[in-house]
Amino acid sequence: MSVQTSIVAGAPNDSRAMTETDAPPKTPAYAPMLAAYHRAHAAELRAIIATVPLFPSDRVLDLACGDGAHMRWLRERLDDGQVVGVDISEGYLRFAREQIEVADADASAGLCAGAVERLPLGDDSVDLAWCAHSLYSLPDPMVALSELRRVVRPGGHVAVLEQDTLHRFMLPWPAALEIRIHQAQLEALRARPNGPGKYFAGRRLGKLLTDAGLSTCSVRSFCCARAAPLDADERCYLDGLLHDLRQKAGPFLAAADRVAFEALADPASDEYLPRRPDFHATFLDVLAIARVEDERAANRSADGTPPIGRGR
Ligand SMILES: C[S@@+](CC[C@H](N)C(=O)[O-])C[C@H]1O[C@@H](n2cnc3c(N)ncnc32)[C@H](O)[C@@H]1O
Repeated sequence: MSVQTSIVAGAPNDSRAMTETDAPPKTPAYAPMLAAYHRAHAAELRAIIATVPLFPSDRVLDLACGDGAHMRWLRERLDDGQVVGVDISEGYLRFAREQIEVADADASAGLCAGAVERLPLGDDSVDLAWCAHSLYSLPDPMVALSELRRVVRPGGHVAVLEQDTLHRFMLPWPAALEIRIHQAQLEALRARPNGPGKYFAGRRLGKLLTDAGLSTCSVRSFCCARAAPLDADERCYLDGLLHDLRQKAGPFLAAADRVAFEALADPASDEYLPRRPDFHATFLDVLAIARVEDERAANRSADGTPPIGRGR
């Protein structure tokens, strides 16, 4: 696969030659869990992508493309269109490039190093900007949405897929314990430098997009489930989710709650939830699709006031 950069404006494209002394750039610690999630939930994620407005010749940006899984699924919907993935992580870009080469040697897909604060794409350069499960990872979701708005042509779309930290999954916890786990999660997030706001993007995704100056076309929720017996990828993903929850919420639980929680969330425990024969988990995603309006046309129809910029 050649790195396709025709919709990328003057971007450094992570094609830095490796020397013998260079260590390969690392992927984040959560990369194996996320890859397992992509394999285990590929059918559902493809079905979500199938609802996004796309034409076969469209130019598409996948912001914070990570391992490139969404790029491959977006690419499946195109013919002579292009997908460009932008991510700040050199390790992830390298990994994504390997995955895309294996899956689709002929893909018109490009990978590009870039930070969301200033995307390496020109104004109005893509028909669709896609951003999946990343707003909470980005320093400022509003900056990200504003940049997505800038690079999408008037009449094009911004589509954001998100979860909500408190409702990412429903597990068969005792209900009273679950409420205290949520309280502990909230306290853990409050202790973070930017506060908990961006971790709850899922529940107010439409408003986030309209606050960024986009016209929200639709907000849809998608739910899926997994039940015992879990396959290796489903189990890896759940192990990762529970590990993360233990790290974050565990220290904020009262001692007795922590014992009860650990019994259900520690893989070393005989009561570990995902090993139960009657285990059932429900997962929730929210997709918001917004249209980028042609401000020049909108302003022309007003009372003679001059066109306004995109407010970057
Ligand atoms: C949770 S991962 C999601 C990746 C991918 N969208 C997916 O669904 O698998 C978040 C991604 O955001 C990227 N990221 C974090 N901060 C960024 C920034 N300032 N600019 C661009 N990408 C960033 C990370 O490198 C990572 O790939």
